Amino acid sequence: MKYTRNLILVVVLVLSTACSGQKASTVGSTADIEKRIDKLLSGMTLSEKIGQMNQVSAGGDVANYAEALRNGQIGSILNEVDPVKINEFQRICVEESRLGIPLLVGRDVIHGFHTIFPIPLGLAATFDPSLIEVGARIAAIEATAQGVRWTFSPMLDIARDPRWGRMAEGSGEDPLLDAAMAEAMVRGYQGSMELDRTSMAACVKHFVGYGAAEGGRDYNSTFLTEKQLRNVYLPPFEAAVKAGALTLMTSFNDNDGVPSTGNSFILKDVLRKEWGFDGLVVTDWNSMGEMIAHGYGIDRKDVACKAVNAGVDMDMMTFGFLSHLEELVASGCVKESAIDEAVRHILRVKILLGLFEHPYVDVEAATPVQYAKEHLDAARSTVEESVILLQNDGVLPLEAESIRTILVTGPMADAPHDQLGTWSFDGDKNHTVTPLKALQARFPGKVIYVPGLRFSRERRDRFDDVVAAARRSDVVLAFVGEEAILSGEAHCLADLNLIGSQSDLLAALKSTGKPVITTVMAGRPLTIERDLPNCSAMLYAFHPGTMGGPALADILFGDVNPSGKTPVTFLRTVGQAPLYYAHNMTGRPYAGEKMLSEIDLEAGQTSLGNTSYYLDYGAYPLFPFGFGLSYTTFRYSDIAVDKTVYPKDGEISISFTLANTGERDGTEVVQVYIRDLVGSVTRPVKELMAFKREFLKTGESRRITYRIPVSDLAFYGMDGEKKVEPGDFQLWVAGDSATGEPVPFEVK
Ligand code: NOJ
Repeated sequence: MKYTRNLILVVVLVLSTACSGQKASTVGSTADIEKRIDKLLSGMTLSEKIGQMNQVSAGGDVANYAEALRNGQIGSILNEVDPVKINEFQRICVEESRLGIPLLVGRDVIHGFHTIFPIPLGLAATFDPSLIEVGARIAAIEATAQGVRWTFSPMLDIARDPRWGRMAEGSGEDPLLDAAMAEAMVRGYQGSMELDRTSMAACVKHFVGYGAAEGGRDYNSTFLTEKQLRNVYLPPFEAAVKAGALTLMTSFNDNDGVPSTGNSFILKDVLRKEWGFDGLVVTDWNSMGEMIAHGYGIDRKDVACKAVNAGVDMDMMTFGFLSHLEELVASGCVKESAIDEAVRHILRVKILLGLFEHPYVDVEAATPVQYAKEHLDAARSTVEESVILLQNDGVLPLEAESIRTILVTGPMADAPHDQLGTWSFDGDKNHTVTPLKALQARFPGKVIYVPGLRFSRERRDRFDDVVAAARRSDVVLAFVGEEAILSGEAHCLADLNLIGSQSDLLAALKSTGKPVITTVMAGRPLTIERDLPNCSAMLYAFHPGTMGGPALADILFGDVNPSGKTPVTFLRTVGQAPLYYAHNMTGRPYAGEKMLSEIDLEAGQTSLGNTSYYLDYGAYPLFPFGFGLSYTTFRYSDIAVDKTVYPKDGEISISFTLANTGERDGTEVVQVYIRDLVGSVTRPVKELMAFKREFLKTGESRRITYRIPVSDLAFYGMDGEKKVEPGDFQLWVAGDSATGEPVPFEVK
């Protein structure tokens, strides 16, 4: 590694302390905080309390909000990042409102603030929580320097259908990986030590089930059973809450008929009572108002009543609390104690962030931290760990000495905006280093650039210019994928093939006989099966952010050995969606039955074995969860557990030998999966139980031991209790979710 992670971590933490300047004076013990809240609450009118529960989006002049701020009608503003304006908002609140309660300023800082890191799906591909924590810390340092103290991140929605555009924003399909990323981001945003002026409150979202939208269409209904919720969709949220996340956002979807913003089971019973969450619950943008469109409420007054009684503390952009809560309290529909409780949650976050002591930012200090060298280095390192090598016939890594001319082509080769991906509001494309720019800087005079397509959606019949350039080159580096706007919120797709004429471009390049090395930048796993034969090698970079170019150059030319593993299943065709590795065992698992072309004419109805598969595409994905190649090879051997039978309160010690059998140093993401063979309810065929990045020098062989508490095998079974069910298990230690041999053990 060019930049060692620990070094980056140290630099960032030092920087973080330096930027925080004087630390927020300690906010005191829990009892002190509650006393402060009691005191504040006792002096507030009902209208001022309701004002705290109101969040509005900024836009235009500060003057537009001055009166409402002065009258205590706004508790939080989102979408303002100008530190001068933020200071002015705060000044009005602190100096001109009756109670002087500071404002909470929120923003979608999703994968970096100015320095943009890979999209969260790319972050998850690193399988490296400690690096993700560094990235989140950097985002917090940059955002808080401008006055943003609350980010609407991390998004923890398990996503198993790549048609859903928001898959880009999360950690993919697996609850354990998602939970690990969630904890890392919460720690990074908020700071793992005492909260200081670089602490940015995390907001875990979208609670809950939003990623399971029917058909992958955003905002659509979900029908998750309580068991699915508890075993798959809730664990990342629980992990984030346990890691100290200060806030949480409700989701747009209705699950089994109940919109999340009005769902007291998830907001009160699970979140507050079971998990003990005492932070702030905010709605998603107008999700309270949308309960009317859902047909779950008659009007804004009705939905405001339902939301607050379900456990919502703050309304983002419906204005239903502001207009109706007073009358709802007067009519007895909402108890004032419920309002007090909501305001208590809001004030607690403001106190914990030290906003009462330090409402203002130092405007002069804001600029120097943006795009700081350490931040760019960390972003580069993150891309280097996140890129997945999907295919390589041996052409990679390239040897610079033996190449005279490089053709750089494709719509993503020099797309400084699109490379940043979705939700990069504050990333300035002028800071983006594209692959073209990085390669030109690295190999002056050697690079020919013929884009072929100007943007991913473009259609073109002929590629004569690109083909001619390819013929003059020793190697072709093609950069294809999706524009940023094709994934993210509301940007779902029903066709996941490379869009526009990109596949034709790759086919035309292949026809030249030159090695074609393709890098895909996209917000989701696209269905690239038809493109693979046209490529000597393929790298998948998701949208890699500001430093994508240099990092990709490092990988292509072998300074960095790729180690990313996919956090989602790659489909062969969109018709397979949803397809994910941890599916339950069917009564008729696929057993290699005949495919379409093998079926006899007029074959009998029962001649096909009657198992669970598609006649045309079989049962398997293109690339399984956890898959990713390296420039070296790894061999797993002598995998053993230390006992054959474990007590329920025991610990499984798994040992194995991992050898780097290739010719380069490299890092392998070791994955441990288990299967519970028989349960009170059917169980997934495999579940990720642990993962770790292991670095091995070429030729090195190491005996490695991991320990997993047996209690980690617990799940919600027939009786609705979370527990380990005794019986037979299997365990795999492997480099992806589809390989390896099972090792049996038993729990008694
Ligand atoms: C709607 C999105 O669903 C949510 O994730 C985001 O945080 C809010 N808008 C605020 O921008």
